[in-house]
Amino acid sequence: MADVIAAIEERRTTVLYDGTRDVSDEQITELVRLATRAPTAFNLQNWRFIAVHSPDAKARLRAVAWDQAKITEAAVTFIIVGQMADETTLPDRLAPAVQAGLMPAAMVDGWVAGAASLYAGQPWRQRDEAVRSASFGAATLFYAAHAMGLGSGPMIGFDPEGVAREFGLGENEVPVVLVAVGYGTPENWPQKPRRPVQDVLSIV
Ligand SMILES: Cc1cc2nc3c(=O)[nH]c(=O)nc-3n(C[C@H](O)[C@H](O)[C@H](O)COP(=O)(O)O)c2cc1C
Repeated sequence: MADVIAAIEERRTTVLYDGTRDVSDEQITELVRLATRAPTAFNLQNWRFIAVHSPDAKARLRAVAWDQAKITEAAVTFIIVGQMADETTLPDRLAPAVQAGLMPAAMVDGWVAGAASLYAGQPWRQRDEAVRSASFGAATLFYAAHAMGLGSGPMIGFDPEGVAREFGLGENEVPVVLVAVGYGTPENWPQKPRRPVQDVLSIV
């Protein structure tokens, strides 16, 4: 528990990366495995993670991301893709919970009906869920990276249509946020001070 709190207090946005230090495919896979432990509504898992790792892919991403240097300096940049919520995906997504004996099979239809009542024919809500799921996945990835001794930096400075075009996103997919990950240099600022908690908290 103390480790989790320490990670929350220590994590900072890494802007400057040591361009000579790479990460392995195993590290990339582990980061995404941990990121997908984040919760999603109905366990929809309506996300996809594109790890931009090769020099060519990094150059293509940088060209549609405000020429931000971290994309080529960081070891890898993830395009965190949210998928429009679609209740028809749920039986497949819930099957492992049923097989594990966690969830009675008869409950699945009820969850599908609940999801349909929220999302069917409601593109705005489908998109909200895409953004929520991808955001929780991104946040979990920050802390996984921190625990693995890596810095991370979220980026919204990109052209969404350009990213979708360059990296083949589907009609139902939203590039929610980019997350650079790599070894930070000592010049990075520590976490910046936050607004006082009493300015942002209402206990009602
Ligand atoms: C959604 C989001 C988008 C961001 N976009 C960018 C970006 O495009 N470029 C950049 O340099 N920093 C970007 N940042 C970094 C923020 O400026 C940084 O997280 C904030 O100043 C807090 O820093 P700290 O967590 O180190 O205290 C973004 C952060 C978030 C959460």
